[in-house]
Amino acid sequence: MDKKTYKKELYKLQVELVKLQRHIISHDLKILIIFEGRDAAGKDGTIKRITEHLSPRETRVVALGKPSDREQASWYFQRYTAHLPAAQEMTLFNRSWYNRAGVERVMGFSTDTEYEAFMGSVLPFEHLLVKSGVQLLKYYLDISKPEQIERLEDRRRNPLKTWKISPIDAVAIEKWDEYSAARNEMLRRTHNPVTPWHVVRADSKKRARINVIRHIMAHVDYPEKDLDCTHPDPEVISAFDEKQLTSGAIAP
Ligand code: ADP
Ligand code: AMP
Ligand code: MLT
Repeated sequence: MDKKTYKKELYKLQVELVKLQRHIISHDLKILIIFEGRDAAGKDGTIKRITEHLSPRETRVVALGKPSDREQASWYFQRYTAHLPAAQEMTLFNRSWYNRAGVERVMGFSTDTEYEAFMGSVLPFEHLLVKSGVQLLKYYLDISKPEQIERLEDRRRNPLKTWKISPIDAVAIEKWDEYSAARNEMLRRTHNPVTPWHVVRADSKKRARINVIRHIMAHVDYPEKDLDCTHPDPEVISAFDEKQLTSGAIAP
């Protein structure tokens, strides 16, 4: 996708997002959008494009750091529930409770027992949120290994990206296969009809961003929707399907 097409398309979609937000505010909706994916998958950039022109009062971005001692001694979901959207808000999570199934599992920050307890409670937890009126959308941004290598190198060279560097990056590539295994198990066990995973092929940042926004538009109803905006490219974004794990649609 060339820069000019991207800019034009993004502008159109951002105008739609503003309309969508007006509807969220006037109807007291609660929207929660979760972004998962490896280091450098593009979570941060996607969230930035979504929120760029939205009202800061009703838009929240949550990117929690390493849990504190007290948080580690609390109910696992507790530190996340503090940030759930109230009526009229759209909240975007850059990483989420799925840390327990991803980075925590691979890096050994939690035990097998904690992992299984998480797996047993995450769907009841999400279903409770949905029943209480939260509209929950879950996106998994998937990148290939060469793309991750290139982006992590760029992070070290680009002075505007150095803030993203973390000790965890250093092992992201080394533990590529472990992250793949953890991702596969997470998708298999937590994809469900009420809170499905949407897998985004994110090697092209521009395509990924455009299609995530289109997908959000398609999933939340609001008046005066520009129907042109609601057709995400099925090659870029689709509901998780087991077959993707063997077909190469999800990076092995
Ligand atoms: P990001 O990729 O989100 O910018 P990092 O690569 O530094 O950040 O960390 C990835 C995730 O791992 C973050 O969500 C962070 O909270 C989590 N994390 C880091 N250290 C720990 C830890 N000791 N225990 C649990 N989670 C951790
Ligand atoms: P497995 O289910 O054994 O294939 O493991 C999937 C991934 O999770 C691998 O990367 C393992 O290294 C990792 N893993 C397994 N057990 C733990 C654990 N107790 N803590 C952290 N990571 C783990
Ligand atoms: C990015 O490329 O913006 C990264 O996904 C940031 C992140 O890892 O959250």
